Amino acid sequence: MIPLICRWYREHRRDLPWRQGKNAYHTWVSEIMLQQTRVEAVIPYYERFLSELPTVQALAACPEDRLLKLWEGLGYYNRVRNMQKAARIVTDGAGTELEKYFSGAPEIPGRQEETEIVKALLALPGIGNYTAGAIASIAFDLPVPAVDGNVLRVLSRVWGDNRDIMKQSVRRSYEQALEKAMRTVFSDKNTDVIQTEDSENNKSAQMVEYLLPGDLNQGFMDLGALVCIPNGSPLCGQCPLGERRLCRAHISGREQEFPVKE
Ligand code: ADE
Repeated sequence: MIPLICRWYREHRRDLPWRQGKNAYHTWVSEIMLQQTRVEAVIPYYERFLSELPTVQALAACPEDRLLKLWEGLGYYNRVRNMQKAARIVTDGAGTELEKYFSGAPEIPGRQEETEIVKALLALPGIGNYTAGAIASIAFDLPVPAVDGNVLRVLSRVWGDNRDIMKQSVRRSYEQALEKAMRTVFSDKNTDVIQTEDSENNKSAQMVEYLLPGDLNQGFMDLGALVCIPNGSPLCGQCPLGERRLCRAHISGREQEFPVKE
């Protein structure tokens, strides 16, 4: 399932401004904005925010009235207040190892630093499991899940799972199952060899594709937004899992019954 979603994502991904290059600060800003706001509404806010506050240091130093002005219209102002508190922790040295990762050029931590990085992210105000997983996977290529409503819906259909996804314990078990699967798939040999046509020499060639944790997590987001949609009928004909009969809800024609939400 995981390689199919990664491949689908590479072929169908939405071209969104926070998907250009790898930058932990950009991922962080986008994920906080996207928590309660739709993608289309976020885009102009995201672009203005980053053009005015291009670095985590600029965010830390921004006067409150200017900060709130940049957020005006997005609502839930605690999101940006927490982000500034976190930016101050990161830049004043208390966020220890995080500052170098949030400053400019992408710096990719090694796997051995993974636990510390995720712990340090989770200790920041406004960052919970979902946001820590999104930053760790998208910006740092670490195999950490980012379980939101999209992931819960897609997986509850794939697994034909009757449990209530509104329960914290169920959500936790999805995170654990996905984390385990991600650790196996995104090992050091995280490549997926695919056959392609070499048109010049008219023979088949092998191409190595890299499987990335961020592609999986964003693949779930796009699959959930575009194909495995919440209401009405999901577009199973366009889903890489439906096609391969890897989705229990689809096989049994019970797409509408999942996810279960009490
Ligand atoms: N929703 C939350 N995070 C997202 C992302 N990175 N891309 C698209 N939609 C999202």
